[in-house]
Amino acid sequence: MKFSFVDGDPASSKADVLVLPLFESDLSEKKNRSAALSAVDRALGGIVLAAAQEEGFQGKADQTFTLHTHGRIPAARLVLVGLGARAKFDPEVLRLAAGRAVKTAAKVKAKTLTFALPPAREMEPCVKAAVEGLLLGSYKFDRYRTVGRDAKSGRNAGVQSVSFALPDGVAHARAFDEMVALGQKVAEAVNWARNLVNEPAGVMTPQQLAAEARSLASLGLKVTVRGRKEIEKLRMGMFLGVAQGSVKEPQFIEVAYTPKNPKDAKKPAVALVGKAITFDSGGLSLKSAEGMVDMKTDMAGSAAVLGAMRVVAQLKPPFPVRAYMGACENMPSGHAYRPGDVLVSRLGKTVEITNTDAEGRLVLGDMLTWASESKPAIIVDLATLTGACMIALGHHIVGAWGEDDEAVESVLEAARSAGEMLWRMPLHELQRDALRSEVADMKNSGERWGGAINAAMFLKEFVVDTPWVHLDIAGPSQSPKERGYHQKGATGVGVRTLVELIRRRAAEEMQAGR
Ligand code: BES
Ligand code: MN
Ligand code: ZN
Repeated sequence: MKFSFVDGDPASSKADVLVLPLFESDLSEKKNRSAALSAVDRALGGIVLAAAQEEGFQGKADQTFTLHTHGRIPAARLVLVGLGARAKFDPEVLRLAAGRAVKTAAKVKAKTLTFALPPAREMEPCVKAAVEGLLLGSYKFDRYRTVGRDAKSGRNAGVQSVSFALPDGVAHARAFDEMVALGQKVAEAVNWARNLVNEPAGVMTPQQLAAEARSLASLGLKVTVRGRKEIEKLRMGMFLGVAQGSVKEPQFIEVAYTPKNPKDAKKPAVALVGKAITFDSGGLSLKSAEGMVDMKTDMAGSAAVLGAMRVVAQLKPPFPVRAYMGACENMPSGHAYRPGDVLVSRLGKTVEITNTDAEGRLVLGDMLTWASESKPAIIVDLATLTGACMIALGHHIVGAWGEDDEAVESVLEAARSAGEMLWRMPLHELQRDALRSEVADMKNSGERWGGAINAAMFLKEFVVDTPWVHLDIAGPSQSPKERGYHQKGATGVGVRTLVELIRRRAAEEMQAGR
């Protein structure tokens, strides 16, 4: 998709579709009507506002309305997308609206689009959000469909070029072009992460995930993949325990970005850890048929981390960034780890297995210890860790844990600016008894109550003296239905927050002149 900016009245711009994102007040209050809407309505003899009213389009944040212009303006069709109340507006509202607009445009086979950016206090975040919404909304995962796919149009179907029209009184700035470029990089990485998650588990094996990571080497990242022998040498007993039930060899994947400047290269890194269970059957504590259907999603944390690394390679922040993923399957077999087994972690702590389906925390525990050993500035882990987090926060909100307030705040703020919804959850000693074991230092799963907290408490035991933030993405990793810029299936959640976190840290470094 190509992006450009056009001057002048959107009503006179030629395109297959002209998109007008509108606030409720654009329709309900004449004095607040945007210049773009007024101009288009005038050019079409007043039928836009009349038809919108007849069809009940009020500019609500989930509404979309299409109108054929029959040659009365250069754009063949008009698509109105609601932004809701002006007072509640933020760039995420525009991102979602842009996603809906591009889906509507694709349905009428539009190739070119003029997109009238709405007036906002800060235009830069809106430009970025619009670009992301348009690209994320264009995503489809249909490579396994032989029918129902638009075969003729093939891979490059959909909207090819977008011209942004700026609101009245806003002049084009260089920063807008930079936001377009950034939005493109981010969206491309999110869509790539979505692909990794949407691929069936029989395809996206630990080996394939390692191959995907290796593809990042072409961007200048250093990729190291270790097999079982080497993982044994590293004494990652929890990772090995989970992996032993599968015929597929575990892969310890490390991706490293190191700045060119030797001074920057020595700074403490940002460490990212992603859960990389390529399929979670539950192991011998087998899941139900229903509970297992979506378990290819259990590597969504590592998909987000890999997606973020892809952008990091292009942004080149002035500090190292390292990613760690323990990739394996959780399978039942004659080789599988058993309830009652005791595993010895890399840190030396022992764990009694009470449920083989609480596997993520075991692999992550060894990864967190390993990540701590190189003394990074912060560790952020992303994991589809617990059904309990989905019960607590639903499909759209990521749970965030951590004891270092500054670290947690920085991640929450990055998420806010990226348009991803995070909610801080407590890590509290009150829950500690949940993991007490009679035979080992702790057990891997406790009572059901507070299940998402218990998992976070478990992880905490394996972080050594490092500010750490844990994100449980079990709910948001998948969208249950098509919505805004999401399709049903993988969302790529986490990429945007991680990129924003690193961008903000980079900006702080620059400001401090370090
Ligand atoms: N991968 C699952 C969590 C999950 C559930 C992710 C639904 C996405 C959607 C995790 O490994 C798991 O099985 N957790 C158990 C923990 C329990 C056994 C303590 C759970 O949530 O039931
Ligand atoms: Mn599990
Ligand atoms: Zn799992």
